[in-house]
Amino acid sequence: MRFEGKTALVTGAAHGIGEATARKFADEGANVVVVDTHDRGQEVADGLANGLFVRGDVSSDDDVQAAVAAAVDRFGSLDVLVNNAAMTLPKSYLDTTPEEWDRVLAVNLRSTYLYLRAATPHLQASGGSVVNIASFHAGATIENFSAYAAAKSGVVGLTRGAALDLAPKGVRVNAVCPGIVETAMWQAWLDELDAPEAAVAEVLKLQPLGRIGRPEEIADAILFLGSEQASYITGTTLFADGGVTARLSHA
Ligand SMILES: NC(=O)c1ccc[n+]([C@@H]2O[C@H](COP(=O)([O-])OP(=O)(O)OC[C@H]3O[C@@H](n4cnc5c(N)ncnc54)[C@H](O)[C@@H]3O)[C@@H](O)[C@H]2O)c1
Repeated sequence: MRFEGKTALVTGAAHGIGEATARKFADEGANVVVVDTHDRGQEVADGLANGLFVRGDVSSDDDVQAAVAAAVDRFGSLDVLVNNAAMTLPKSYLDTTPEEWDRVLAVNLRSTYLYLRAATPHLQASGGSVVNIASFHAGATIENFSAYAAAKSGVVGLTRGAALDLAPKGVRVNAVCPGIVETAMWQAWLDELDAPEAAVAEVLKLQPLGRIGRPEEIADAILFLGSEQASYITGTTLFADGGVTARLSHA
């Protein structure tokens, strides 16, 4: 029970990787704050031993401040912050409007800055840590993901910078870059395609481990970096991607 008596806040925890992460934190004894814009966050929180759902948009400073305050009010501390909520925009930058660009950067990158800023005093008090969820798109992208790749590369850069800024305060900051994982985000990408079966076959050909990932496999990497087992690790990026970045980044 690595997180007995500790409090973890996981954004985007109503589905997918965030949901799996919230469940694993709870299984290891943590109080868990589920933040999401989607109603399903309530159901996820209700299924945890000590769960709290806070509805909020991660790109809104007011919502972020309120979620952090609610976490500390309810559970008394904040020990692990997981910046996981995100959106994709599967289109070329040539077709991306300035409004779409701003929204992708706000939900994926501004959010991480806002949460770090709001949570730092509480993380400093607890000697806590932060895990930011980036993507394999920060290591080697593919066509039609420019805004998302830019935002996720920004998350990796922010992780390094925040790790240095927070090291003197005793707070660690790391990132996890998932590969392709079977979630609603992956399904949404497939739904946009004319020939999804062919795309799945192409994707599988690129996977060194021969399959895409499960949300729980990414959650394991997140819990490791958030735990005391990673006490000497800060400013790093862990690719939990089945090896796909090793292949694509040297293609
Ligand atoms: N699934 C993949 O293949 C994959 C690959 C690489 C990286 N990632 C990253 O992993 C993380 C989780 O992805 P997932 O596949 O589980 O996604 P998902 O779409 O299954 O879940 C994302 C959750 O975030 C919530 N959300 C979206 N916008 C929000 C906002 N503005 N405020 C609050 N909540 C919001 C959604 O309601 C949803 O519950 C994301 O950071 C994503 O970029 C996923």
